Amino acid sequence: MLSKKMEKALNEQVGMEAAASQKYLAMAIWCDAEGLEGSAQFFFDHAEEERMHMMKIINYIQESGGLSVVPALAKPTQKYADIKAVINAAYNSEKKVTKAIHNLVDLSLTEKDHATYNFLQWYVAEQQEEEVLMRKIIDKIELIGKGPQALYYIDQAIFKTGQEAEAN
Ligand code: FEO
Repeated sequence: MLSKKMEKALNEQVGMEAAASQKYLAMAIWCDAEGLEGSAQFFFDHAEEERMHMMKIINYIQESGGLSVVPALAKPTQKYADIKAVINAAYNSEKKVTKAIHNLVDLSLTEKDHATYNFLQWYVAEQQEEEVLMRKIIDKIELIGKGPQALYYIDQAIFKTGQEAEAN
């Protein structure tokens, strides 16, 4: 049985995952409009993944005797200077989610809620992977540099890095 405090905190995380999904959807649309098809696919896939993260928490709350709250979401920006700005925004967003997950883990410990602590370990590992993925992409963008076909190669690299992460 979830404490009211834990239930509220988990519902806040539902909102955060939902917001991340919307944010990635907006990024995917921006990439698609720029002709960056590989990057668009990467973010469309990621938007789905975030929805799955949200659903997992909703199911957990419901199974644990709590009540999930469908969050109201702010409209995400659809304006970016370039693909590097998109990836940096995604990386910053993941870092915030990681912090929120770690706060939830802390709360589960103070609440002596071992079931939720156990449930959250999946998210701890997932966030670690997400941050590694974004950093890998940032490194590749730096490596490719600013040559005449840089955008083409960056787009390919983002798609490929996303596919590799999914396969693992
Ligand atoms: Fe579900 Fe990427 O945070």
